[in-house]
Amino acid sequence: MEIRLTTSEWNQAQAEWLLVSVFQSDELPGPLATLDDALSGQLTRLRQSGDLTGKLAEILALPDVPGIAAKRLLLIGLGNPAELQRADFDKAMTTAIRHVSTKKSVSVAAALPHVSGDLISTADCAQATAIAACVGSFGQDLYREEPGRFPLSDVEILVETDRRHATVADAIQKGTILGEAINLTRELVNRPPQEIFPVSFAEKAERLAIECGLGCEVLDENQLNDERMGSLLAVASGSDQPPRVVVLEHRGADDDLPTLALVGKGVTFDSGGLSLKSTDSMKMMKSDMAGAATVLGAMSAIARLKLPVNVVGFLGLVENMVSGRSYKMGDVLTARNGITIEVLNTDAEGRLVLADILSYAIDRGADKLIDLATLTGACVVALGEDVTGVFTNNQPWCGEVQAAAKRCGENVWQLPMFKQYAELIKSDVADIKNVGGRWAGAITAAKFLEKFVGNIPWVHLDIAGPSFASSNNAHREGGGTGCMVRTLVETATTFSEEK
Ligand code: BES
Ligand code: MN
Ligand code: ZN
Repeated sequence: MEIRLTTSEWNQAQAEWLLVSVFQSDELPGPLATLDDALSGQLTRLRQSGDLTGKLAEILALPDVPGIAAKRLLLIGLGNPAELQRADFDKAMTTAIRHVSTKKSVSVAAALPHVSGDLISTADCAQATAIAACVGSFGQDLYREEPGRFPLSDVEILVETDRRHATVADAIQKGTILGEAINLTRELVNRPPQEIFPVSFAEKAERLAIECGLGCEVLDENQLNDERMGSLLAVASGSDQPPRVVVLEHRGADDDLPTLALVGKGVTFDSGGLSLKSTDSMKMMKSDMAGAATVLGAMSAIARLKLPVNVVGFLGLVENMVSGRSYKMGDVLTARNGITIEVLNTDAEGRLVLADILSYAIDRGADKLIDLATLTGACVVALGEDVTGVFTNNQPWCGEVQAAAKRCGENVWQLPMFKQYAELIKSDVADIKNVGGRWAGAITAAKFLEKFVGNIPWVHLDIAGPSFASSNNAHREGGGTGCMVRTLVETATTFSEEK
């Protein structure tokens, strides 16, 4: 999507919708007062009548506004100006874009609010507006004859002339790239499992890599066998769809500089295997590849932004199915690094896939690791549907990822990794078992992964909750959310600034 930056006066912007934000405070500052004059005092009257409250994400549509060039006006509440944060502004803008994108080919002119204070800058607002324009106008109804949401035909962001133009233009460009990356992740998650399976996912990654200038290797089942990925291959064995591992490479810095590795769980469908899920738990398991889709989205943005950093993405693509060739409870697997694993639940498959790829990433020279996985229902029980669980073996590295998430307005929460938890995954017959029992399920899964990363600084993000939304609401489409794409790109950005 092309998003333009202009310095038009608000009342002169030509568009089907003019988007203007309003704070909860009493006065109408500068350009809003001018707009109010053009509208013969309508804004003041709406304020007085209590129809225009300015409460966060509350919108008021005025479909007929003589006096300004735009056909319609959408007023967007931003709440208390002293409290406005990135996540609030995202929510308000996405709500607005979702309101106007229910018709085909709509053009939008969005005015940037006048922000002061250190919580959010004009450039942040510009970037968030660009992201919202992409994300808010893209729906999950990919297969409907009459879709409920349409891409915008034209987006123009209005900025006052004295506001640092180049910085805002950069922010819009970055926001557009991020918005498109988020949509890429969302679309992959939303597509059905008959369409997205390991081979088709890998092909999609290859095509995208060519488009954005990423290196791309695809390992097939024979190569995975040569790489001794016994744990990953066991999960794949029950499916007619062969597994793939995709390696995406962005070399933006000298070879002697450190490499960041991003690893994603890509279970394109999780039936649970012989530990078969119930219909209710299985029905959304097309989304069990969200970790891999997030890594792919982030890698595309990192490449398009030409970040001066070395980042390698690893996608572990398998389907977890039931057949005469399925792996079984009681099986003992030998992972790539030699660790033996007793399988006591074939539905705890994500950790078996990640185990081999984490050690593969280390052997390929990863200096720091982040993995993303829809790993446990237990994490959703602990933190709810909107918060990512964070686990680490290295607190400073974890702090960097958490700080990046905070700057992006994405909610993450760290869970403990005390030594004692490792007792819960000891096995009587092998080095470890793949389930830790009833309690602390998100943590025992992370403790399992920890066995495969050695001393390399590693952060595990359990996105089982926030990667997929069960229903639509005013500020968010249901389905894949593209959560953590921004945080990964932000982490890679600061990784490059570290040198
Ligand atoms: N893919 C699931 C986790 C999941 C659950 C993701 C709900 C999204 C929403 C994972 O493979 C799984 O089945 N985990 C089991 C682990 C258990 C068997 C130890 C779980 O959470 O029940
Ligand atoms: Mn499972
Ligand atoms: Zn799974």
